[in-house]
Amino acid sequence: MRLLILGGSQFLGRAIAARACAAGHKVTCAARGTSGPIASGASFVAVDRDVPGGLEPLARLAFDAVVDVSRHPGQVRRAVAALKQRTGHWTFVSTVSVYADNRTPGQRADAAPLRAPTAPEVDYSSEEIYGAAKVACEQAVGESAFICRAGLIVGPEDPTGRFTYWPARLARGGEVLAPGAPQDAVQFIDVRDLAQWIVHAAQSGLTGIYDGIGPTRTRGELLAECAAALGSSCTFTWVDRAFLEAHDVRRWAGPRSLPLWLPLPDFAGFATRDTRPARNAGLNVRALSETACDTLEWLRTANGPVVGLTSDEEREVLVAWHAGGRAS
Ligand SMILES: NC(=O)c1ccc[n+]([C@@H]2O[C@H](COP(=O)([O-])OP(=O)(O)OC[C@H]3O[C@@H](n4cnc5c(N)ncnc54)[C@H](OP(=O)(O)O)[C@@H]3O)[C@@H](O)[C@H]2O)c1
Repeated sequence: MRLLILGGSQFLGRAIAARACAAGHKVTCAARGTSGPIASGASFVAVDRDVPGGLEPLARLAFDAVVDVSRHPGQVRRAVAALKQRTGHWTFVSTVSVYADNRTPGQRADAAPLRAPTAPEVDYSSEEIYGAAKVACEQAVGESAFICRAGLIVGPEDPTGRFTYWPARLARGGEVLAPGAPQDAVQFIDVRDLAQWIVHAAQSGLTGIYDGIGPTRTRGELLAECAAALGSSCTFTWVDRAFLEAHDVRRWAGPRSLPLWLPLPDFAGFATRDTRPARNAGLNVRALSETACDTLEWLRTANGPVVGLTSDEEREVLVAWHAGGRAS
């Protein structure tokens, strides 16, 4: 295939390019070139999707398939207008943040209600409207495309430092502050598995709307399996939402967070999406142990980012917990 990636200089886009190059495809990455390098073996074309005529450098090139990772409806509309009619297969990488309901467990991509899209004149401008902007992007892409609504993407080269917190923390061993309860659900996808599926979708002409995410696991399994894979000896102290919130431990990502923690029941549906349709359509996931070990190795060799509680902050919360200062 002659594969065009609109993007390709960041985490997922770069992994898609690497996977496609390894499979023998001719890969072009089109971006400004400010986010990072592209995969070795791919070609780079400089474009700026925010300026009129910004896709002109692609005008005389032909592609069998396009993958677009944009989160800006205007960029997506312009790419569709310039390229879609003369391209065999179109993939748009969307997100599970398009869904309106994060509470109901077990939802499927083909039936779950969506957020209202951003109005046509509003382009993406803040994280708060990320999901709504992606709905508008999906609408701009239209039918006869592969819409891949990715869930939490993890693995080597993750620029967010979220999942990375856990291999880094578990590798240190000892008493680990764990959020919520061991049976709470978590759901994610290794970037390399998602990339492989996206290349497979382009190769096989897959169309339709799917959630691109791995199976639901419990947080207890996640932590225990990662610790075992890393050969680390850990004990887990599970601390409830009220106590964490009372001690300013934050959710999901960022400073003072316990990454990947989303309070229940508000997010009971977020990590329990039904992924049977994706599995039936060719999405395969590797062992968690491989993701954990490779992420830690990358973190150490590349000095990658990690967010979340510092070890001092974690210790302070554990000390308070053991002292019995539990919130009601
Ligand atoms: N990370 C997650 O956990 C997660 C979860 C769900 C869904 N997703 C989705 O998965 C995808 C992740 O993609 P990604 O990892 O490749 O990162 P990304 O941050 O979405 O990459 C954006 C790409 O577009 C390029 N770009 C940005 N502005 C541009 C412009 N004006 N003109 C031309 N190119 C431009 C960037 O390159 P330059 O800066 O070099 O131009 C970069 O290669 C996204 O669609 C995201 O919404 C991610």
